[in-house]
Amino acid sequence: MKKPLKIIISGIGNRALPRDPLKSNWKGWVELINKMEEFHLVAAHDIDDSALKRTAELGYLKPQQLYRSLEKMLKNIDCDAILVSNPAQFHAQTIQAALERNLHMLVEKPFVSDVNEGKMLIREAKRRKIVMAVVQNWRYKDVGQLLRKAIKDNLIGGIGHIFFRYLRNRENPRYPSYIFREKSPLLYAMGIHHLDLFRYILDDDFASVSGNSFKPPWSFYKSDTGVNLFLKTKKGASVVYSGTISSLNNVIPQESLLIDGDMGSLVNESQWLEPPLYFYPKEKKEGINLSKEIKNTDIYTQYNIADQRILKNFYLAVVAGIKPACDASDALRSAVAVEACHSACQTGKTVYLRY
Ligand SMILES: NC(=O)c1ccc[n+]([C@@H]2O[C@H](COP(=O)([O-])OP(=O)(O)OC[C@H]3O[C@@H](n4cnc5c(N)ncnc54)[C@H](O)[C@@H]3O)[C@@H](O)[C@H]2O)c1
Repeated sequence: MKKPLKIIISGIGNRALPRDPLKSNWKGWVELINKMEEFHLVAAHDIDDSALKRTAELGYLKPQQLYRSLEKMLKNIDCDAILVSNPAQFHAQTIQAALERNLHMLVEKPFVSDVNEGKMLIREAKRRKIVMAVVQNWRYKDVGQLLRKAIKDNLIGGIGHIFFRYLRNRENPRYPSYIFREKSPLLYAMGIHHLDLFRYILDDDFASVSGNSFKPPWSFYKSDTGVNLFLKTKKGASVVYSGTISSLNNVIPQESLLIDGDMGSLVNESQWLEPPLYFYPKEKKEGINLSKEIKNTDIYTQYNIADQRILKNFYLAVVAGIKPACDASDALRSAVAVEACHSACQTGKTVYLRY
């Protein structure tokens, strides 16, 4: 029997405890943690009473373990770690408060919405020897793992370019209203997954970006919801990234990824990076299914597999000192990329990334 980590959560929203479990893409942090012997959920915090009520009604925690004040929870509860799953704009202040308690942290993406703030928090976590890991779950999905292995094993040779297209309909007026006021929502909510995945599978970093943003007349969002970007990596690969969260498309897959190397191509057409992943050797029309061994390829299972891997990885980072697969310094480099993409679209100029 493992000694469980006593963990608390800040933000019991859709990601932690899905409001409509039958339609959700994931089980959610509360249920996953509840089932794992590595963790013991000891308290939760949310600013919304209804979120706390739901957690109690579903039997996950007792009313006295539920807090509307983060400070009170941090003061009253004996714990080892915190999962930060509140909206991105509150991550930095939640992390800061938890740092003062020397808690290990698993933070939902995007790690922070301000890179300089992120740097300061990382410095403080290092000084206190705290594990600070970030949920970049595209890395941990089976296709993310297979892509990295294929490229590492030199299956497609030297990488020339990535073509990625994202077509999502996120124009849903039932979403919480803050969503529609967020800065560059495509980049900060979804682009962070994709750019982080590219960094991870290429084992590379972005060097420069240029691009434009746009928004259709029917959009509910304050910021632009689409981008057309051209990025170069430090090792010289080109990345063409076009996406929108205002698409009315319900037919063609949301995500379309093509990676060309000098010995072949990797192709994944999916909703949320689920299998299949195909390898097309140079000049061959028949693809090889690299994901054929994967039994459960549906969206829900793929999310849950990734989330469980992240939790186990975090546990080992805390108890055994292994380096998390995505620590905060690593996640910050993806945040730098997102910030540079945003700035390139705002200024119309090429932005050279500084880390
Ligand atoms: N990794 C993924 O695949 C994935 C998917 C969805 C969301 N997310 C991330 O998870 C986080 C939460 O997203 P969500 O979809 O659950 O959002 P949500 O809007 O459904 O829930 C957010 C919850 O946080 C609460 N909250 C608001 N302000 C707070 C504060 N200051 N302190 C504590 N709680 C507060 C809200 O009342 C709500 O219950 C975000 O960082 C988001 O980017 C990640």
